[in-house]
Amino acid sequence: MSWKVLITASGFGQTGQQALQMLGQSDCQTIIPPKLGPLAAAELIPLLPGVDAVLASLDDYSANVLGAREAESLKIIARWGVGFDAIDIPAATKQGIVVTYTPGLLDDSVADYTFALLLTLARRVHEGHASIRNGGWKIEWGNDVAGKTLGIIGCGRIGMAVARRASGFAMRVLAYNPKPKPEAEKLGVKFVSLDELLGQSDFISLHAALTPETKGLLGEAQFRKIKRGTFLINTARGALVDENALIKALSENRLAGAALDVFATEPLPLRSPLRTMPHVLLSPHQASSSRETGERVSLAAARAIVDLMQGGQPENALNPEVFKAPQLRAKLSPVK
Ligand code: GLV
Repeated sequence: MSWKVLITASGFGQTGQQALQMLGQSDCQTIIPPKLGPLAAAELIPLLPGVDAVLASLDDYSANVLGAREAESLKIIARWGVGFDAIDIPAATKQGIVVTYTPGLLDDSVADYTFALLLTLARRVHEGHASIRNGGWKIEWGNDVAGKTLGIIGCGRIGMAVARRASGFAMRVLAYNPKPKPEAEKLGVKFVSLDELLGQSDFISLHAALTPETKGLLGEAQFRKIKRGTFLINTARGALVDENALIKALSENRLAGAALDVFATEPLPLRSPLRTMPHVLLSPHQASSSRETGERVSLAAARAIVDLMQGGQPENALNPEVFKAPQLRAKLSPVK
């Protein structure tokens, strides 16, 4: 017998064929539950007994879940993607559980999608489409992108990939980041304070990780500082923005529009005013959902599980200190 692998990553159904083969060839037993992630704690815990590894969506791996009796056999959480805000990493380390992610594989697909949203919003492509679909033929006047200023909040790998695209579109690029990055400055990106970025940008795009410090980074006070007529694009995390403040800024026309791929609660509740507001372009957290990228991410997440199972140290561990910890579960109970 070898490891039982629970797969909750929803992208796996479309892109996980080769990764499933790899897991099968390594004698892993895969379990795909009827409901895929993101799973709440109450949905996740009953699936965990006997499970050695999870190939995880944005499921709730809080300290309670990680410390639950049902999670006792869990040795690795291999996150399908780059955001790990739903995982309590110190709690995982304390339990001897390795946590991995897949950095660098989906930067271009998220940056492409960000640009698709930016261009669609600016040129009102979705509104022209809807007009024809509804039997009409109404030309929608939009705004130019060339020569405008893009403000990137969070200039990591994905933010940089967005900056590269923006410079090709002849945009001026500002960025707000904890530290300026020389490779971005070489591209012409100017690092500024958050207030300067808010006051000068025609488009603002969020690419920061969600942490206790960045939660609600854009709230009512920040929306008041935004230049009138700015467009907001969010392909990072919904909770970076105070959604009520966003709705207010949109309804007071302080923002010209918003393109949102991520939300504080996903799926976006049916009663959310965002579902019906004008000048809002919505998509269901699909910025990294391109087939080629999905295949690479699925393979990398599965590879991390197989590596640990075979006694290796997977690449891209978020808690590498766990490999030296006496409580490392993969070592305490090697492959059966
Ligand atoms: C997607 O949201 C990810 O975290 O990879």
